[in-house]
Amino acid sequence: MRYAILSDIHGNLEALRAVLADARDRVDAFLCLGDIVGYGADPEACIELVAEHCQMVVGGNHEQAVAGRIDLNWFNPYARAAAEWTHDRLDDDQRAWLGSLPLVSEVGDATLVHASPAYPEEWEYLVSAEDGFAAFGAFTTRLCFVGHSHLPGMWVQGSWGRGHEAGDVKVAIDPGGRYIINVGSVGQPRDHDPRAAYALWDAEARTLAIRRVTYDLDAARAKIVAAGLPRFLADRLAAGR
Ligand SMILES: [Fe+2]
Repeated sequence: MRYAILSDIHGNLEALRAVLADARDRVDAFLCLGDIVGYGADPEACIELVAEHCQMVVGGNHEQAVAGRIDLNWFNPYARAAAEWTHDRLDDDQRAWLGSLPLVSEVGDATLVHASPAYPEEWEYLVSAEDGFAAFGAFTTRLCFVGHSHLPGMWVQGSWGRGHEAGDVKVAIDPGGRYIINVGSVGQPRDHDPRAAYALWDAEARTLAIRRVTYDLDAARAKIVAAGLPRFLADRLAAGR
């Protein structure tokens, strides 16, 4: 099976459509690591497309916030404004669906989780080398796919030692290794590259790669401004941070 793994779409329909189009002929199935909504102006359309395309979806902190399961005082002012706006845009069924998503799941030899496999409900960020190394004991599969930081990267651990690489990694999976892969963000990249990011995983060929896709950034930004969401959320898309 060949999978496209998407995370942190954040209501950015233009980015999601571009990623789906890019991946369509490259994969057999789509997986989603959460934060479908929040920040962007098209939460309903993004929920519909994810529900239609993805074989498995785990929930992120923005799903939990919109479903009323996280105290918004934990969010920064921009995230809080976006969560409140998104909450009001969605209907009861959509909010219930977001709230019903599991926080952890397994597909083949991979664990899927939005933040960290260790205490997924605490929404810890895996960023440093040590953050990732400490998480290997919290899952049993060979691979673990994460999002949340919006920063693509990889941690690997094997009999030869361990390693950490930030950025758009491309890997041949070693049969003796275990891997944590951050797939980056479809709708709000924060690694100073504004292009949408997602991961391709070929389970038979044992390869993993982050792909970057250009999309209609100006349209996504204009919609955020027109919706009355904080302008900062539009500006950061162009900066990719
Ligand atoms: Fe996110």
